[in-house]
Amino acid sequence: MIAPSDIADAVAALRAGLLVILPTETVYGLAADAVDPRAVAALYAAKGRPSFNPLIAHVANLAGAEAIAHFDDRARALAKAFWPGPLTIVLPAKDGAVSDLARAGLDTVAVRVPSHPLAHAVLAAFAGPVAAPSANRSGRPSPTRYQDAVEETGRACAAALDGGACAVGLESTVVSVLSEVAILRPGAVTRAQIEAVVGPLAEAAEDGHRSPGRLTRHYAPSAPVRLDAERAEPGEVFLGFGPGAADLNLSPSGDLAEAAANLFTFLRQADLRAPTAIAVAPIPEHGLGEAINDRLRRAAGFVG
Ligand code: TXA
Ligand code: MG
Repeated sequence: MIAPSDIADAVAALRAGLLVILPTETVYGLAADAVDPRAVAALYAAKGRPSFNPLIAHVANLAGAEAIAHFDDRARALAKAFWPGPLTIVLPAKDGAVSDLARAGLDTVAVRVPSHPLAHAVLAAFAGPVAAPSANRSGRPSPTRYQDAVEETGRACAAALDGGACAVGLESTVVSVLSEVAILRPGAVTRAQIEAVVGPLAEAAEDGHRSPGRLTRHYAPSAPVRLDAERAEPGEVFLGFGPGAADLNLSPSGDLAEAAANLFTFLRQADLRAPTAIAVAPIPEHGLGEAINDRLRRAAGFVG
């Protein structure tokens, strides 16, 4: 296993066009200089992404974000409400500020200011946009612990930062602020929280390239996933929610934030037992439940 690096090593690796495992408050990222197309190409290769799915440009603060994207009042209000934190905003890109490859050729760019102190320190020192998809190999659950990130893509990295377990455990919410405001990927910031800032949201267009994470099976362990299960069948591992018997309980008290933080780790742990299937208890659809159910449906192989 590659030894944990320090912030200076990580910044030097990014400057050299190499890959870095970077903890954030949501999930671990696999980071590269977003301006350097060769570094970004190496990043796609390390993940084994089947096609070029655009990447989030991570920056240290709003000024860094305004250097790469055109903000309007709605985008600034969202940034003020949720940054630093688990919201990604898709905006018109400024020409040449991020490589075409990182944007997958789109004229928009996804930007985010993470709140994790190590991510912030690296981004502040690097002083440029850093592309960082989740550090899993394509299609697998996102890593929320250092050792999981290293196991997934550590081999491709020149440096890896150990930031402990990710506090949120689910990816950022991706919201586009273009002619309309729409959620492209439900995530750690809920629909209600966003609507409290910008008013009622539009429905996201069903366009495979613009709507993120629309692959059939995504965030998936090796074992099949069975949803809305009341109990395990023989050979299955049961992932519970709320009171009652379970092999692993996402949150015995029925707390959605706790369930979100445990979700990907427990899918990995359940998978290690090589069950016939991972049976998952019903999760309520409100608040963070929208994002949890989105990830579970993708893990189970339903088209989004
Ligand atoms: O929490 C997170 O967002 C993590 C951490 C590491 O920051 N990152 C992450 O990145 O989840 P990734 O690459 O796994 O997911 C980024 C999502 C993709 O589904 C992609 O389609 C979408 O954001 N995206 C990126 N740029 C976009 C754009 N210009 N328009 C629409 N969607 C975009
Ligand atoms: Mg991902």
